[in-house]
Amino acid sequence: MAQIFDRNSNALARMSLVLTGLIVIALGVTLDQLQRSPWVTRQGQRADQPVPFSHKHHVQGLGLQCQYCHTTVEKSSYAGIPPTKTCMNCHSQIWTNAQLLEPVRQSWATGKSINWTRVHDLPDFAYFNHEIHVNKGMGCATCHGRVDQMPLMYAQNTLQMEWCLDCHRNPSKNIRPTSQIYNMAWEKPSSERPVWCAVKDGKNDAPTAQSVDCVTKDPKDSGPQVALMQTAADKGMATDAPAAMLPAALNYQKFDSQDALGHFLVKQYKIRTPHDLTSCEVCHR
Ligand code: HEC
Ligand code: HEC
Ligand code: HEC
Ligand code: HEC
Ligand code: HEC
Repeated sequence: MAQIFDRNSNALARMSLVLTGLIVIALGVTLDQLQRSPWVTRQGQRADQPVPFSHKHHVQGLGLQCQYCHTTVEKSSYAGIPPTKTCMNCHSQIWTNAQLLEPVRQSWATGKSINWTRVHDLPDFAYFNHEIHVNKGMGCATCHGRVDQMPLMYAQNTLQMEWCLDCHRNPSKNIRPTSQIYNMAWEKPSSERPVWCAVKDGKNDAPTAQSVDCVTKDPKDSGPQVALMQTAADKGMATDAPAAMLPAALNYQKFDSQDALGHFLVKQYKIRTPHDLTSCEVCHR
């Protein structure tokens, strides 16, 4: 009787098994990559907005502070999107006929808010809070990138769980003085650009982050008062701070690496341990 399956088809069967295996693996890898791809996470995409609002123009060009529009970022879980009134502070006088601004005028006339497309949007089962991050020395640019250079808003980071955890495992590599959270151009300290920090004494009841004073100019060169005024200026405050705000000479410590500054600030700001910060209940409540 003739063999139905010759030796060759045996090899073929084995080959096709191997091939199927490879295809399954490839599919798995593709799906995994897809899940992380910008197409799914919308990372880097410019959303279609009713008005082509430019952060570059309004922040870098006009020098507006983030808090001018995102008023609740330091005191609530939401940074907030500004109401039309905020735009009309200027646009009732500037560019009043521009076609680009028609939706803004419409919104103002009808009282219906502008329908901005959300760029960052976590699923409801993940809890996020701006207040705690910015008050513990996490700068806007660390999570949102150089917003001051964005003609149209896009997401710099994926906002996926892995991204959150990467920082929660070691916040010291990203932490900066709270006086610098809005500073888009902040760079980690180095031997060419050191940072000096001092802990204000006798103020144990004050919030921890507020009782640390950090400056970017050698306090010995300028004296403690000028140093404090420098921080005030960095915060965008008026530099003629009342005398009551000026403490006695502070004991400044010099930091010339992110590692050193990070460890100091993590301790001073009382940041919880990586173990605490990566437990599921922190973000899934
Ligand atoms: C003149 C007002 C104004 C200022 C100043 C401003 N923003 Fe915005 N911001 C807006 C508006 C309006 C939107 C919504 C439209 C958009 O996404 O471009 C927005 C959106 C955003 C978003 C995305 C929101 C989303 O949908 O996920 C981020 C992040 C953001 N701003 C960060 C900043 C930062 C950081 C600064 C300071 C460097 C800043 N903004 C300054 C008005 C402002
Ligand atoms: C502090 C004043 C001020 C505020 C507040 C302000 N703008 Fe503007 N905006 C300007 C000025 C000034 C220009 C024109 C800049 C130029 O052409 O040199 C401008 C230009 C624009 C333009 C034209 C495109 C561009 O970027 O040049 C758009 C669109 C715009 N603004 C939207 C908005 C919206 C939306 C808001 C509210 C979220 C807003 N602006 C808030 C001052 C302001
Ligand atoms: C630790 C990372 C992180 C930092 C630091 C951070 N943000 Fe966000 N931001 C996010 C995430 C995550 C979202 C999406 C929140 C959501 O979908 O619930 C977001 C959303 C926003 C939005 C959209 C509106 C809202 O409230 O959800 C604005 C505006 C915004 N951020 C502005 C800012 C500004 C201004 C700063 C600096 C003062 C800042 N953010 C600092 C991570 C961060
Ligand atoms: C760049 C660093 C960084 C990133 C990115 C980051 N976090 Fe955090 N997160 C921190 C720090 C620092 C704290 C404060 C820890 C403390 O005070 O002990 C914190 C605290 C928290 C808390 C605790 C709030 C509370 O009231 O107990 C939550 C919830 C949280 N983060 C959620 C998130 C989520 C969700 C993401 C991602 C979308 C994220 N974080 C991304 C640094 C980060
Ligand atoms: C620092 C905040 C944070 C912590 C801690 C955290 N998660 Fe998440 N998790 C998130 C965010 C943000 C998302 C949404 C991610 C997205 O939209 O892609 C998420 C999504 C998920 C999902 C949905 C599937 C996915 O991967 O998108 C599961 C399941 C999950 N987390 C389980 C856990 C478990 C189990 C733990 C504890 C071991 C944990 N998470 C700890 C922030 C966190």
